[in-house]
Amino acid sequence: MELVIRPLRPEDLSELAELWRALALEGASGGLVLYPPTDENVARWRKWVASAVERGEVQVLVAEASGRIVGYVLFGERKSPLLSPYRRGVIYDLYVRPSWRRRGLGARLLKEALSSLRAMGMDLATVSVAITNRVALEFYRRLGFEDFVLTLVKRLR
Ligand SMILES: CC(C)(COP(=O)(O)OP(=O)(O)OC[C@H]1O[C@@H](n2cnc3c(N)ncnc32)[C@H](O)[C@@H]1OP(=O)(O)O)[C@@H](O)C(=O)NCCC(=O)NCCS
Repeated sequence: MELVIRPLRPEDLSELAELWRALALEGASGGLVLYPPTDENVARWRKWVASAVERGEVQVLVAEASGRIVGYVLFGERKSPLLSPYRRGVIYDLYVRPSWRRRGLGARLLKEALSSLRAMGMDLATVSVAITNRVALEFYRRLGFEDFVLTLVKRLR
């Protein structure tokens, strides 16, 4: 089956937002869900992506097979008002539909995103992964990412 990796088109947004819902359900399973994938949040995410892509703040690459989006990666530069010797790119989302996993697609999407970030002048790429998401941790470490910052959380109510 032919697989094409290409930039997002406006007509992909509805399907992409449903993939974000699946990512949010799965990526945080077993842990604290900061952004529950409700219809309201799916709509908000979709609106944010459309405007952030339009403003050039983030980019999305989608993997398409037989007219269906089977995976995507969303990434961009993390800007800061502080001076740093490093320009930092961020992988915000990476998702592959379950039936397409373990065939190298996640690695392909990630490598394309990292190449784009490098071409944009980024020195580093970071990604936040829920500590409960063992698969994603294994995946990123396998692809050369090292443990860097650990976010701790304390419930106040
Ligand atoms: C993480 C994810 C994107 C990986 O996609 P994928 O297409 O299955 O990944 P690949 O086939 O490119 O795997 C590359 C390597 O990662 C590691 N890996 C991937 N899935 C793994 C699993 N279930 N268990 C252990 N290692 C795994 C392996 O080392 C694998 O190489 P191998 O298949 O030669 O052993 C996919 O599992 C996913 O969409 N998960 C849900 C969303 C998510 O958690 N995203 C990350 C947070 S942003």
